[in-house]
Amino acid sequence: MRNRIRFHRAENTEGPSASHDCVIFQPYATLTYHTGMADSNRMEQYKRLLTQLEPLIQKSPNLVAGMATLVALLHGKLRHHSWTGFYFVAGEDELHVGPYQGPVACQILKGQGVCLACAWRGAPVVVPDVHAFDGHIACDPRSRSEIVLPLKKDGRVVAVLDIDSHQPAAFDGEDVEPLQRIVNLLLPLVGENSRIG
Ligand code: SME
Repeated sequence: MRNRIRFHRAENTEGPSASHDCVIFQPYATLTYHTGMADSNRMEQYKRLLTQLEPLIQKSPNLVAGMATLVALLHGKLRHHSWTGFYFVAGEDELHVGPYQGPVACQILKGQGVCLACAWRGAPVVVPDVHAFDGHIACDPRSRSEIVLPLKKDGRVVAVLDIDSHQPAAFDGEDVEPLQRIVNLLLPLVGENSRIG
């Protein structure tokens, strides 16, 4: 019997301090990773995507345009992604969907879920098995694993990048640093009013 993972706000407000620290939920150690490509290939692909995205984001006229461009490239190139998109922080316990690619998703996330766990903690969250994460919000019932990274400026989380996969354990700690670098390309576009709550 798998242990279900509980992640409640009150227990988790003190997040890791280093920017690339993350929370990885590993309810069982024997799970095989199905990454869809060799790990080194994936790291190379992240590097190429960073290089491609840098000038595109520099030319983006605003944050939403930059987010849309980032999501389009990631979702188009990374075959293990079933959904790639942003949620804006819209209050203490609420997120609102931003630019995304993939099946139609929940527009409002409230009170629970992996994305809110990331926003509350201000650190990336990796979930190899979404069924083992208590409070996971299943916008797409086929989703099996997930990674969420914060877009954080001056200590405040403005939005989170959420990536879902239909493959179990499609993400691990190795994905965190390169994806966070990609998300951080958006930082120059974050303004005073970017957080909508
Ligand atoms: N699974 C997320 C909800 C967003 S959808 O996956 C697009 C969560 O638990 O917060």
